[in-house]
Amino acid sequence: MDDLLKWRGEFPILERSTYLISNSLGAMPRGVYDSMRAYADSWGERGVRAWEEGWWEMAVAVGDKIAPLIGANPGEISLHQNVTVIQAVIASCFDFRGPRNKIVMTDLEFPSIQYFYHEQRRLGARVELVSSSDPVRIDLDKFLAAIDETTLLVPISHVLFRSSYIVDAQAIIDRAHRVGAHVILDVFQAAGTIPIDVRSLGADFAVGGVLPLTEMTTVSVPVAPRSSVTWSVSV
Ligand SMILES: Cc1ncc(COP(=O)(O)O)c(C=O)c1O
Repeated sequence: MDDLLKWRGEFPILERSTYLISNSLGAMPRGVYDSMRAYADSWGERGVRAWEEGWWEMAVAVGDKIAPLIGANPGEISLHQNVTVIQAVIASCFDFRGPRNKIVMTDLEFPSIQYFYHEQRRLGARVELVSSSDPVRIDLDKFLAAIDETTLLVPISHVLFRSSYIVDAQAIIDRAHRVGAHVILDVFQAAGTIPIDVRSLGADFAVGGVLPLTEMTTVSVPVAPRSSVTWSVSV
């Protein structure tokens, strides 16, 4: 018997339906009832003291559970509302008014991330949207050629949301670092589905969400494997 089958019982809805949508809102684990009750009990019984009795540390503790899935170290993950907000937090660390102001992005990127970076043009960013004639995969050579000495940021998904295509993140990170650009690697669709080690990849930032992982909540994660800028982000 498949070892993973023992986990089915933890997701009550699976007894009644074939639940295929693990991304938009996954099947709720039965343990959520107890966790929600414990949370409410803390609030109800301890009031504002609950912050000092676990709530402050909770975000770090959740991050530390995610860290091994992507090769991050304990304490390196910070939690935010969603991936697009994280991109905004990271982008706010950079100044687009100088000569190095280009953002290189594929037109297969997740839509809300594209919308966000297009808006950065108002702050001086030049966005080079690398178009793909193929709806499944990016044209890697074309993408790499777009990353030059004027490139500041390269937001790129490790696995494309449209097609599940696995992007050669290493090639992109290597190229970006050769010309002094920063890579924001979106591991939303990759974390938990393919092996990832953000440290050995050398991503400047990694962002992702836990919907495909735990199917419980909407918080997302930047990781700080390399860049000193990241630490100011992940506080
Ligand atoms: C690659 C990728 N990035 C980000 C997101 C989610 O972005 P947000 O949390 O801003 O809604 C998704 C959701 O499907 C995604 O596939």
